[in-house]
Amino acid sequence: MTETQQSTALDTLLEETRSFTPPREFVAQANVNDPEVYARADADFESWWEGWAKKLNWDQPWTKVLDWSNAPYAKWFEGGKMNASVQCLDRHVADGNGTRVAFHWEGESGDVRTLTYADMLAEVSKVANGLRSLGIQKGDRVAIYMPMVPELAMTVLACARIGAIFSVVFAGFSSTSLKDRVQDQEAKAVVCADACWRRGKVLDLKVVVDEAVADCPSVENVLIWKRGDGIGTAATGDPRDVYWDDVVVPQPTDCLPEVMDAEDILFILYTSGTTGKPKGIVHTTGGYMTGAYATTNLVFDLKPEKDVYWCTADIGWITGHTYIVFGPMANGVSQVLYEGAPDFPQQDRFWALIEKYQVSVFYTAPTAIRAFMKWGDQHPAAHDLSSLRLLGSVGEPINPEAWVWYLHHIGGGKCPIVDTWWQTETGGIMITPLPGITTTVPGSATTPFPGISARLLDEEGNEIKGAGGGYLVLDRPWPAMLRGIWGDNARFEEAYWSRYPGIYFPGDGAKRDEQGFLWILGRVDDVMNVSGHRLSTMEIESALVSHEAVAEAAVIGVPHELKGQAPVGFVILRSGFEAGPELADELRKHVGTLIGGLARPEQVHFTPELPKTRSGKIMRRLLRDVAEGKAIGDTTTLADPGVLAGLQADYEKGDS
Ligand code: WTA
Repeated sequence: MTETQQSTALDTLLEETRSFTPPREFVAQANVNDPEVYARADADFESWWEGWAKKLNWDQPWTKVLDWSNAPYAKWFEGGKMNASVQCLDRHVADGNGTRVAFHWEGESGDVRTLTYADMLAEVSKVANGLRSLGIQKGDRVAIYMPMVPELAMTVLACARIGAIFSVVFAGFSSTSLKDRVQDQEAKAVVCADACWRRGKVLDLKVVVDEAVADCPSVENVLIWKRGDGIGTAATGDPRDVYWDDVVVPQPTDCLPEVMDAEDILFILYTSGTTGKPKGIVHTTGGYMTGAYATTNLVFDLKPEKDVYWCTADIGWITGHTYIVFGPMANGVSQVLYEGAPDFPQQDRFWALIEKYQVSVFYTAPTAIRAFMKWGDQHPAAHDLSSLRLLGSVGEPINPEAWVWYLHHIGGGKCPIVDTWWQTETGGIMITPLPGITTTVPGSATTPFPGISARLLDEEGNEIKGAGGGYLVLDRPWPAMLRGIWGDNARFEEAYWSRYPGIYFPGDGAKRDEQGFLWILGRVDDVMNVSGHRLSTMEIESALVSHEAVAEAAVIGVPHELKGQAPVGFVILRSGFEAGPELADELRKHVGTLIGGLARPEQVHFTPELPKTRSGKIMRRLLRDVAEGKAIGDTTTLADPGVLAGLQADYEKGDS
């Protein structure tokens, strides 16, 4: 098919797919198919969640389900004790499911490893013993910088086993980003891989770690797992370096788990906020595990004895924490874990993997779906995808075109799609269809998960009832909610609980349609969403300003065909520096080096001035108008309206 034929076919599909009712066979086998579940959970949300908590193994039961008296600091399942790694491992082995595959792992170049739940328990125990031998104890922080290999999941679970607070840093982040995160949490150890494969090339991770830890006096050891093939950097002679082969491999395969309080911290995960400094989001044990378990079970309708589940996120993001490690493993399902890129060696790699492992539940991001659409229908068509029964989407709003393409070209027109809205802070899925209940509409995340209460408010805090748009808020606590920002209570209270006192403000806008379905419209703060990943405009601005040529910078997110949004920078140069394409390129690279490739601006424009209010605040909204070629919006608060005309003229010339 030519591109034009493909897009006509898509228009027809869009026209024909106004909604999707779950097929009768799906409903009949669904974990939940009674719409009453919503009313039941709403009538008593504490006992709804308590019911889920009871499905987990606790060393000691709780005395109180929820203590919200010290809001916004929630306590769930107070007095309860459990260990998260036991939920994910020991429990399945004890139930006689030790031989079930936990991970079908595939490296980018085709190397394969199969690990059962019993294998994982043994391996995790070895890592846990190894970490203890390095002096890591309950409450110590361990930063993890690894690619998508089973050892990453093992290290996460090993930390959980010994009560160490882990913090995974996505292995695409730069040494500066890693350093900032390690310093903020004062990590005692860093666990890393020496290298990994990406699109057929070796990425040297150890070099990044070396650079980062040079400035991290809290780090006593760097534990290095070798990817093999001798591809990583040679030893640097840093006495803190220790190797997996020496520390982990000789350890015994059993390890007594630490008994953790429900409210003991499980992990910190850094995410971008509206300032330049990332926020260390804190999650605790009992509530997080309850939320992860329940949402995975119902949203993905898991049947652990027969499903093969594949979430394509990286474990470095919250999606990988909750929907690769803790949710699916607590449910005991078999998963696919893939190290590499979706277009390596060819653009059909994902479909080949689905066919090979007979994947039944598949969870990915709209940005990936848009790339698949662009690569062409022939790639999925060349593979047997009939094992699939349920599809999921996460990370950013999914446009209806991508939704119908996903349904028809991947899901064979028969698989329900769950479009799941949630955040690092929420710990688990909050707004989503339930696949055996909801008649979905392309592009809408539909309704809150049972027990969750979402509302729309206007600027003044008045509730918008019925159809209409506003700020999305969550006005009832939930077990997997964040418990704070590491070391910064003031910021926690300010960022999430002050916009509407006592109500959680996620930072997203949304609208409600006539039938009561929610449509997430995107961020309403200075956070952008690039390929489903959150980036702060301020963080990119600080990176630009740290370059010697830059006096001032403003960054905005502009719509991008594949990435959803892409960062664009506007820069005022210091005197003595010459605007031009080389410098623009250098600045783009500079941001990539400081933060990571994801943050690299699509374009950098030079300008003698930026539109500012009289109080000196940069009006990004007007820059967005310029970038999108729109008529310039309200400029009444602008100090110097002339600035915009100049900017627009330069922008249109495409000066860089
Ligand atoms: C956006 C990722 C629309 C949203 C799990 C949110 C979405 C931010 C969706 C959180 C969705 C996530 N539809 N927007 N289904 N899922 N978002 O913390 O703006 O990396 O606030 O968590 O992604 O990003 P985070």
